[in-house]
Amino acid sequence: MESSLILIKPSAIERFLTGEIISRLQKKGLIITGLKMMQLDEKILREHYAHLVDRPFFPFLLASMMACPVIAVCVKGKNAVEAVRNMVGFTDGSKAAPGTIRGDYCLSNQENIVHASDSPENAAIEIKRFFKEDEIFDYTPGYFRYLYDPEGH
Ligand code: PPS
Repeated sequence: MESSLILIKPSAIERFLTGEIISRLQKKGLIITGLKMMQLDEKILREHYAHLVDRPFFPFLLASMMACPVIAVCVKGKNAVEAVRNMVGFTDGSKAAPGTIRGDYCLSNQENIVHASDSPENAAIEIKRFFKEDEIFDYTPGYFRYLYDPEGH
């Protein structure tokens, strides 16, 4: 089972889209193993977006991500990273396909509703960045046998 990290960004919190996003993740069959509201600061954002600090839009990205608390969600499931990225859609909401979270709820690059890990390696790093070890609950829900065959496929 693979894990992925999703951040429900201020653009979604302010527009009351939190329930919609969590509902989509759960209906897909992804199992929520961590859920946490937190106010991000510049330190954690400089780490999280280290590959973007030199981009001209970085100050705007910082302000946008600190505008209000975010909700960090950790999910697990088969190919969770790719499955979540497919559900989230292209970075720029104006180009994201209808049916995806960004395709349905935004038109922006910056105010693009959610962040989602882009590889299993980065997911592991990002989960550690936003959750303490005892904030992740690696349990098996009772409905598990309705999600996968007995071998987990
Ligand atoms: S890249 O190199 O731009 O494609 O980088 P990427 O890894 O896709 O991350 C882009 C993240 O920066 C946020 N952001 C913007 N991207 C592009 N253009 C503008 N103007 C911009 N402003 C902010 C964008 O929301 C991506 O954030 P995440 O959280 O990764 O979705």
